[in-house]
Parts: sequence; C-alpha cells; structure tokens
Amino acid sequence: MTFPQDFVWGAATASYQIEGSQGEGGRGECIWQRFSHTPGNVKNGDTGDIACDHLHRYQADVALMKSLGLRGYRFSVSWPRVLPQGTGEINAQGLDFYDRLVDALLAEKITPYLTLYHWDLPQALQDRGDGWENPDIVGWFADYADVVSRRLGDRVKHWATHNEPAVVAFVGNLIGRHAPGKMDPIAAYRVAHHVLLSHGAAIPVIRQNVPDAQAGIVVDIIPYHPAADSEADAKAVSLYDAFQNRWFLDPLFKGEYPADLVAVLGDTLDGIDLASVKAAAVPIDFLGINYYRRNVIAANPNGWLGGEVVPVEGAEITEMNWEVYPAGLTESLVRVWQDYAPAALYVTENGAAFPENLPLDGTLPSIIEDPRRTAYYESHFAAVEEAISQGVPMKGYFAWSLLDNFEWGEGYSKRFGIIYVDFPTQRRILKRSAHFYRDWIASQTAAVPSEL
Ligand code: FCB
Repeated sequence: MTFPQDFVWGAATASYQIEGSQGEGGRGECIWQRFSHTPGNVKNGDTGDIACDHLHRYQADVALMKSLGLRGYRFSVSWPRVLPQGTGEINAQGLDFYDRLVDALLAEKITPYLTLYHWDLPQALQDRGDGWENPDIVGWFADYADVVSRRLGDRVKHWATHNEPAVVAFVGNLIGRHAPGKMDPIAAYRVAHHVLLSHGAAIPVIRQNVPDAQAGIVVDIIPYHPAADSEADAKAVSLYDAFQNRWFLDPLFKGEYPADLVAVLGDTLDGIDLASVKAAAVPIDFLGINYYRRNVIAANPNGWLGGEVVPVEGAEITEMNWEVYPAGLTESLVRVWQDYAPAALYVTENGAAFPENLPLDGTLPSIIEDPRRTAYYESHFAAVEEAISQGVPMKGYFAWSLLDNFEWGEGYSKRFGIIYVDFPTQRRILKRSAHFYRDWIASQTAAVPSEL
C-alpha cells in the first residue's frame, strides 16, 4: 500500500454552506447573507439561512463522521459568528459553538482541521472601505486569527488561513458570481493582494498562540492544457496559469508576483505596492490543494487573456460542467511540489456534483446510489497514490463534501455530499460513495499488530 499509515482520510465543509442559524446566537451578518438575499444572485433565490442546520445538529453530524471512520474533519469558522462586527467585541456564544464542535471531534478521535476564512466576511467589514479592498483588513484578519487561535489552539493543531484566494478575489470581484458580486478588475487585484498579506500577518499570530501548530493555506489549482500544439495556445495557457495558480503560489513561496501577468495587467495594478507581497512568503508547514478539474485553452485574440476555455470532446462532465480528469490531480500535486517544495501537501477538497437517482414516487431510499461519484473518488484516490509514488509528501485527503450543502451561486441545486441531505426534513442518508469511502478508509488503515 502506498498511503502512509498516518495518512489522514477526511471530509470537508465550510461554515456558511452548512451551519444555518444566520441570525442566531449573536452572529453578525456576512456578505453571503446579504448577497444571497439580493434577488438574482443565487439560483432559485436560495440562501444559507438554514442550510444543513449544522449548528443545531453538529453532534449527529460528528456521529456520522465517526460511523464513516473519518480521521480528519476540515471545517471553517464563521468570522461574524465570532466577531459580529468583524473587529472588537467577541460573541461568546459563537466561540462556544466551535469549542463544543472541536471537543465532539476529539472525543471521537477525529482530528480538526480549521480554516479561518472560507468566504463569509462580516458585512460590517465590507461596509468599511469594501472589505478586502481596504488595507486595514490585514490587521483585522490577524486580530480575528488571534481570537480564534487563543481559544481553540490548545486542541486544534492544524490551521489554514484562507480557502482559495483566487475565488475570493476573482469570482467575488472580477466576474461577480460570488459575494460581494463586483465586476471590477482593479478591486479584484487589490483583494488578492490583501488576502495574501493577511495570510502573512496571521501565520505568526497562530504560531505565537499555538507553538505546536501546523499552519498553512489552501489554494485551488487548475491545470491548463493547450487545445492544440501551437505557440498561440501555449501562450494563452501560460497566462491562464499565471492568473489562476501562480498569482498566489509565487507570492506565497517566492514573495513576488509572476512577471508575465504583471506585464499584461499594466495599470490595472496601479496603486498596489507589488513588492510588498514579499510579506506573504512566510514559512508554512503545509499547503492544501483543492482540485476539481482541468481546463483546456485555445488561443482567441478577443478572449480573456488571449484565450478561451474549450470543451473536450468525449470527456465526462459533472453537473458543474467540470471535466472529470483525475490525471490533473497527480499533475497538480507533482507540479506544485516540484516548483514550490512545500514541506507537506494535503488534498483539502476534491469531489463532484452529479444528479442523484431518487425514486420517482418521492420516497427516500435507505441508501442513495451514486455510481459516478463513487467512481470519481476511486479514480482520484489512485491519482493521489500516483503522486505519492512520485515522491510528493502527501499527508491527507479530504472529500468535498461531507454533506450536500449550499453551493454558493448554485444554491442547493448542486449536490456534492457523500451524505445526502433532504433539506425539508434535514434527514441525512448515506450515499453509496460514503459506504465506499468508509470501506476504503478501513482497508487503508487496517489494524497492524502492535507486537509480533
Ligand atoms: C470550492 C469551494 C467549496 C465548494 C467546492 C465545490 O471552490 O472551496 O466551498 O463550493 O468548490
């Protein structure tokens, strides 16, 4: 078996996508609440008001994790649940919730992996100089990291500052499909810059409060491949890679922005002190990689960055219109390891949305058959195994997601869970993929005799 015995098999979620109870327990408003309550932003007008009602059901959800044999659980803390105004006064009830969650996990020997920011910015901070566009947010974020790591650091040892800075900056502020819903390149690159700097500011705070912490960050990597073997396609591919991947990896590991894209962006970057990004290159203990798909790019002089994403003939496509391409996971892990040499890597998210096969009479079966998702996991586990055999220091894998949940702009229309959630009743039903994962974990971590 290639997977090390201490490899962490887990599942991931995020606060706004599962917690619900948005107005409850002293919690402040977040930008996703504001955004989703504004008509036209989220499919079917869905919001995270109730979501998986996890705030009330966390004990049952931890019991489900235990029944699957999960070794790790990756979750995020809601900033406005802890600091309703983003800074200043602490909401004790909010911190207490995460305290109880962590204790419940530890009682079942499930290692908590905490992410500080998975997109639910306090609306109060968005209202103060546009949130991530405001340079003051670097300090606000470090203060928030301080509050959470002081309280939970005695028990939580795995800390990630951010989830997917590229999505925060570009999906939220360049294409406007996520909160706060801007379409403004100048804003987007300012946001990226401050997210990177806030990571650099928060890591030392975490280390100070949690001396034995493993601290890192989570990025979303997309491998880009040329549609044809042409110089024009190769050039577009390289710029897409700079935009999505290197714009964050280069600052985090080399302390500088990729020169090729800086040259193309020109005055879009005016007002950003590019050299100051060296403050993002603090030592980290791990890099988390979220992987869902590759994109194939063809040159197009009128397209974004001189290219466009083109469909791949004959490819399997998920409900998100993402290609199923497990080799891209191996490629991403090996590439990041070779180019940036992080000390350790995790797959912090990987998974797929497919239409579920439910009985037509409206009844709910005792197991939901999801053969395509099950096959997806099997092929992606093999892709991780291949990266390990090529020498990549992999420490764990987290399925996205534990539960069907609020899939951002897609609302509840896309289901990524290995556990089905019947939202009207909040019933949870294991899908076949959850059974498969449970058996897989058991086979990978088979008991070894302590003595011979
Ligand atoms: C990732 C997000 C996660 C989820 C998956 C499908 O980009 O981190 O919250 O929405 O995509």
